[in-house]
Amino acid sequence: MQQAEMVQRENWRTRFGFIMAAAGSAIGLGNIWRFPYLTGEHGGSAFIIIYLMCVIFVGLSIMIGEFAVGRKSGLAAVGAYKAHDRRWSFAGALGVLSGFFIMGFYPVVGGWSLAYMVKSVTGLLAVPEAVGDYFGAFVTSSVEPLIWMLIYLAINVYIVARGVQAGIETAGKILMPSLFVLLVILIIRSVTLPGATEGLKFLFAPDWSKVTGSTFLAALGQAFFSLSLGMGCMITYGSYLSKKENIPSNALTVVTMDTTAALLAAVAIFPALFSFGMEPAQGPGLVFVVVPTIFAQMGGVLGMIFSVFFFAVLTIAALTSSVSLLEVVVAYLIDEQKVERRKATILASTVMAIMCVLSSLSMGLLSGVTLFGVGFFDFFDILTDKIFLAIGGMFLAIFVGWFMDKEELRSELTNDGTVSFGFFELWYNLMKYFIPLAILAVAVMGITAIEQTSLMLFGLFIILAMMVFSKKL
Ligand code: TRP
Repeated sequence: MQQAEMVQRENWRTRFGFIMAAAGSAIGLGNIWRFPYLTGEHGGSAFIIIYLMCVIFVGLSIMIGEFAVGRKSGLAAVGAYKAHDRRWSFAGALGVLSGFFIMGFYPVVGGWSLAYMVKSVTGLLAVPEAVGDYFGAFVTSSVEPLIWMLIYLAINVYIVARGVQAGIETAGKILMPSLFVLLVILIIRSVTLPGATEGLKFLFAPDWSKVTGSTFLAALGQAFFSLSLGMGCMITYGSYLSKKENIPSNALTVVTMDTTAALLAAVAIFPALFSFGMEPAQGPGLVFVVVPTIFAQMGGVLGMIFSVFFFAVLTIAALTSSVSLLEVVVAYLIDEQKVERRKATILASTVMAIMCVLSSLSMGLLSGVTLFGVGFFDFFDILTDKIFLAIGGMFLAIFVGWFMDKEELRSELTNDGTVSFGFFELWYNLMKYFIPLAILAVAVMGITAIEQTSLMLFGLFIILAMMVFSKKL
């Protein structure tokens, strides 16, 4: 992806290819693993409604903004900010740090998915009632999850070291359609189980009593996480976008696909969960327990084939996302620190592997070790998802709204007036006023409501430190 950088910016081969690549980055563990368990923890449909508001009023505009900044500058995250105004390189640097931290836990879950693909054949599905205990025993063991995580990370390294474009475009084109087909099959199975309507009620009849300040922060953070926003990922993808493409309509397509995938995952999971009499707020194990139970009950070869296929698709969906995260860090090392691609990939992934080992062990062996009151897995997860991404998005909105030229933005988004963008004024005002204030309000509300206050303050301290020291980057 980056090799042609210095000579001439390579473009995505086709419009379909770009959409599939951006959707490939967006659709991943965030939709299938994270969204359902957050929905379960935050009481169901009220969380979904707040999430949808965050996507519509914040996420979509930020995505348009990231694509515009990327395509206009033709540079990856740090470079794009720096080219415009040196003082802003900290915002790009914060993105690189976020990518690093997300890669401190994402491959652990990617490894679980990879393991479950194989385990579907080797005994996971034997006793439907035992699937939950199986998960608990697996993730808390010391060695096995580490091996799967390392295999998962190695696949990332292989793809990124060779340059991601060809791989990402091809994977996206085949994978995304099969993911949707699989989710629809799962939904049909799930909603026809006895007692499934309880699950649909949970998803569609809002219970506002569970909503607090931390619900809003969780929904906003999830919107950024799921749409791959707030860390320069979509700036980088936008930098490869052809000048002929219509940015707002591409962004709308990606956002719609991502949101549809998340909602389909929830509709696939909750009816079955209630039918099996399971607990909605069971946390990160949700998909890894409910989905195999569905397949185990199906029984026989058919259940096994579906299960292998499901986890294969989930693994590939995760790969097209984590590759984009690794690429942000690698692109920074190549562009700004002049490290050679292969070396940069090895360097970055070695540090990520160490962070992932700590995250994985924090489920078992190291469960007693905490930083600011949480284990390593939660440390990386909460710091990025609850602070860095949303604040990164706030910086992008301020940058676009207050430091870029309005007329230049207008011509970037309308391809010099050749395509129309009727909502330009609305978009611009959202970026300039509403989004920075909304994120600030949600962050303040969330930080005061959340249990991990000292961790949140530590996160803010890191951001401040980056602002002060960014000139060195
Ligand atoms: N959006 C991806 C998912 O849902 C994860 C991801 C990829 C991401 N790139 C990102 C999250 C950039 C935040 C920022 O699984």
